[in-house]
Amino acid sequence: MLKNGPPQPRRYVLCGLSNRGIGSYAVPLLGLKQYPERGDFSAHGQLVGVYDLDRQRAESFVRLIGKDLPVFGPGGFDQMIDRTRPDVVVVATPDGTHAEYIVAALERGVDVLTEKPIVTDTRQARQVLDAEAASSASIRVAHNYRYSPLNAAIKQMIVEGKVGRIANINFEFNIDTYHGSSYFWRWNRDRALSGGLSITKGCHHFDLLNWWLDDLPQTVFAFGARRYYGPDSPFKPAAPDDRRLDADEQKRLCPYRRQWFGPGKLRPEDDHVGRAEDIFKLPYGEQYDNKPPMYIYDEQIDIEDTYSTVIGYRGGASVTYAANFSATWEGYNLSINGTGGRIECRHFTTPSRCPFPVEEHETIYYTPLFGERQTHTLPPPEGGHGGADPLLKADLFIGPSERSRSLNQAATSLEGVYAVAVGEAVWRSAESGEPVRIADLLGAWAEPT
Ligand SMILES: NC(=O)c1ccc[n+]([C@@H]2O[C@H](COP(=O)([O-])OP(=O)(O)OC[C@H]3O[C@@H](n4cnc5c(N)ncnc54)[C@H](O)[C@@H]3O)[C@@H](O)[C@H]2O)c1
Repeated sequence: MLKNGPPQPRRYVLCGLSNRGIGSYAVPLLGLKQYPERGDFSAHGQLVGVYDLDRQRAESFVRLIGKDLPVFGPGGFDQMIDRTRPDVVVVATPDGTHAEYIVAALERGVDVLTEKPIVTDTRQARQVLDAEAASSASIRVAHNYRYSPLNAAIKQMIVEGKVGRIANINFEFNIDTYHGSSYFWRWNRDRALSGGLSITKGCHHFDLLNWWLDDLPQTVFAFGARRYYGPDSPFKPAAPDDRRLDADEQKRLCPYRRQWFGPGKLRPEDDHVGRAEDIFKLPYGEQYDNKPPMYIYDEQIDIEDTYSTVIGYRGGASVTYAANFSATWEGYNLSINGTGGRIECRHFTTPSRCPFPVEEHETIYYTPLFGERQTHTLPPPEGGHGGADPLLKADLFIGPSERSRSLNQAATSLEGVYAVAVGEAVWRSAESGEPVRIADLLGAWAEPT
């Protein structure tokens, strides 16, 4: 819980008018009637200011929605706090910039609600944890995956003791060619801005594992590589005369592009892969447009797209985790083995993009160690990220439900940091060929009080 808690309605400022910031925070807090699917939380919270590196983008937004909402640009963060007196700063900028704004808000005694990942490395992690310890305010991390009905049902089974003491977990996460390739033409492809895919995306998965296990990761060993994207991609189109193709020419010949955007193809619905495609179609003048067009085979790409990892936990459980960002379907394969039995689940995040027919409902199989298999069926999820986003928003803006409290769904700063620490350990281990101890990355913060 944030230290400065209710009374409601609380005053929010949004730092980062991003696609996520608009869809998950600005629109629901403003209760814009055109977007009923985003929810209306205007009775519980008030949006009182917007800050963005790109002042024009923010000003266009305010003009479009027709609200009298103050906008602040570069250098205006403190001024925003002075003028709008918020209770909460929502941080929804690119990941590598979160730490700066989190620390600035905490130093002013204002609570922080930050998008995942809380930070992009453990050096930043120590800065924000130190700042929180010295502040009257606190941080909450919007780890939405904990809220999907499927992931929460799995947690519930574990809490009820169905699998007993967990021995090991196998977790394979596939990100399909549509979603996976999108990371390579956006800011996420730059480790300085995202931490790499083991952090910007992997933090979701490592947070789920830490949360399901209710334990702390201790040692990580990983392989990781770039097999699909970047300048050495086997799919990089070449000109017959060895001429260097520009980004637009590459796009015309690119198999990823042809698969999803070619003639006769319907661009799939997705709320978080667009570059200039937030729901208001606002241009990203500062973030992208003044630079040469980016594409998925560029030299600058410095992150991996494939990982295989083993994680050891303090309590003795072990995890095998694999992620692939150019997969044929999107979702996960999960099995959890314990002294009481086994949970198995195959989850399709986007059935509409799957190249074979899949059921829309979710199924969890549970087999007691010495018993018959039981099948638990959940209805098709409603709302973003497997039905997680509407539940997360209610929890954030109205307050935690009884179920949320019992499952410990609200992620603290330290929990957010542990998810990042595993992601950093993954790429560092892949780079060095050595196991990485989480305590060596977190220093004094590795021993929570
Ligand atoms: N929880 C989820 O499922 C989920 C999904 C998508 C994105 N996210 C997170 O949301 C955040 C935003 O991601 P996005 O893809 O929507 O972003 P985006 O690319 O749509 O927008 C980024 C915004 O930040 C602004 N910006 C860039 N650098 C800045 C800086 N230094 N200071 C202030 N503003 C700056 C840009 O002008 C732009 O308006 C990220 O942390 C991302 O990881 C979370």
